[in-house]
Order: sequence, then structure tokens, then C-alpha cells
Amino acid sequence: MTAHFSYESSGKADSPALEKLDELAHYIGNTPLFPITNMHENAKVKVFAKLEWQQFGGSVKARVAFNIIREAVKNGSLGNGQHLLDASTGNTGIAYAIFAAVANIPLTLCMPANVTEERKNVLNALNVNVVYTPSHLGPQGAHDVAKQIKSDKPDDFFFADQYSNAQNWQSHYHETATEIWEQTEGQVTHFVGGIGTGGTVVGVSKRFKELNDQIKIIGLQPSSEVHGLDGWVHLKSAGSPKVFDHKASDSIVEVETEDAHKVLKDLVDNEGLMVSPSSAANLKATLDLADQLDEGTIVTVFPDDASKYGEVMSRIFNYQA
Ligand SMILES: Cc1ncc(COP(=O)(O)O)c(C=O)c1O
Repeated sequence: MTAHFSYESSGKADSPALEKLDELAHYIGNTPLFPITNMHENAKVKVFAKLEWQQFGGSVKARVAFNIIREAVKNGSLGNGQHLLDASTGNTGIAYAIFAAVANIPLTLCMPANVTEERKNVLNALNVNVVYTPSHLGPQGAHDVAKQIKSDKPDDFFFADQYSNAQNWQSHYHETATEIWEQTEGQVTHFVGGIGTGGTVVGVSKRFKELNDQIKIIGLQPSSEVHGLDGWVHLKSAGSPKVFDHKASDSIVEVETEDAHKVLKDLVDNEGLMVSPSSAANLKATLDLADQLDEGTIVTVFPDDASKYGEVMSRIFNYQA
């Protein structure tokens, strides 16, 4: 399949960092669309999950991190010697860390102190300067600290701000949506996706509505403020991220963490895939929708697999972490 990138080749003369990044471009995106065949009854409804962990850093955020860094290097807002700076609860941070290491860009990340040990270990191994922020203040607290760091030393940092950076949704507009459209040969009727920054849902929605305005977009959020769906935001309590546009989704459905854990176990038994809680939550809402339809083709994403969630998995599967 062809690659869909939201930029043109930089040529060789631009900068060593850009050259290094361009060498990686073809390894980003183009993830498989996996048919979920054993978990719903109606054969006239097709269900697919896009295996987004099959990218650098093991998550959907490879697309976003790559395009944010590349564009910033290209347009000069991330200059030589400046730190790339952002807040992340994990996936974006790990993806940044990999591309920053390759392109020799220093990276400062603000993260809530309660992120999983696996994430801390990876970032440590990749020599990231991590600023841990109070756990109880969550992603917003990490974002506030990043903003402060930028305002204290504006010349030292490029603040990528994935929550407002247009490269975020544009990555999904140009890449994720186009890939799904080609992989389903234009047959997709519904897209289901959890809302973190909102980039996936907004980008896919914008592109799909251009291609066929009958395609329905279902955004997901956790059912309560306190939840175990890492990567998702509870819109009512946290407010909408800047990237998220409510017009992008035809409906917003709530998912309970416990229900996601049940589906996570069922998915292992029925399809042999071990995914993250939020990926399972995407599937929970997708299967509920499949039960309501007479026919259709529903696509969701699995943003990451289980490998960064050892402690949660040990509880779900009842083994020693
Ligand atoms: C782990 C994880 N990261 C990211 C996302 C999507 O986030 P965004 O809205 O930032 O595209 C999700 C959504 O399901 C997720 O589960």
C-alpha cells in the first residue's frame, strides 16, 4: 500500500535533523486493519481494528509525534540546540523520544508522576529530561508545567503542545483516514474512536465526511472522571482539548473501565490479541454498535497493546507482575 504523509520531501540540503527524520518516514503508519470475526453474531456487520501499536514507540502517536517534530524542524520553530518540550502521559512522549534520539534533538517532557513504570523506564533509557508533575493534577497539571517552562525560558524550548497543534489532527486526516478508506475499499460506514486530545476522531472525521458524508463518527469518553482508560479524557470534568471539535462526532458514547476489562479478556480468548484498556474500550463500544446494526462496516483503532500496562494486566489476568 502507498504511504500518506502530510508533507513533501525536504530534499537533502535542508538540515541533518530533517534528513534523519525523512529516512524514517516510510516506517510510520500503514498499519494493518485486523478483522474481528469471533466476537459478534451478525455476519452482515464487519468489524475491523487498526493495529496502531505496530509503529515506532508502539502506539498511534508515532504519526502525530513525527509530523509535529518534522514540521517544527522544517519551518524553523524548533531550531538547532533548542529543546522539544511537551506534556504527555506516555505514548506521545515515547514517540517523541525515539524521533528526537534519531534526529539528535534534546527533549524535555512533563508527565504526571503516576504514569506506569514501563513508560518511565523507556524514557529513561532514551535519555529524556522528564519533569514529573503532581499525579493528582493529571495531564492538565503536566500541560501547565510545560507552559510555565516555555514562558520562563522562551528561547530554549519549542513547546509542541499536542493538545492544540494542528499537526495532531492533520496526521489522522492525511494518514489514518486515507489508509482506512483504502483498506476497506471505501466500504467503511462507521468509525469509533476514544477521545484523548481528540486528534484521531477529528482528523478521521474531517476526511471521511469529505469522502462520504454518510459515514458516522462515534467519539468515546470514560463514563466517570476517575477511570482506568489511559489516553482518554473525561470531557465533562476536564473540558474539551483545543484540538477536539464537538462537530467532528455524530455522537459521544461513554464506556466503563470494567466493561473494557471484560472485553480485553474476551479479545485474548477469541482473537489472540492482548491490547491496552483503552483499545479494549474502543472495541467494547464497537461491538455494542455492531449489535444495533443490520449491516455495515465498522472500523476502530487499537492505539497501543498491553506491553506498557503490566500492573493492570496482572490484575485483569490474575498473575504476578
Ligand atoms: C492510549 C491512547 N492514546 C491515544 C488515544 C487517542 O487519542 P487522541 O484523541 O489524542 O488522538 C487513545 C484513544 O483511544 C488511546 O486509547
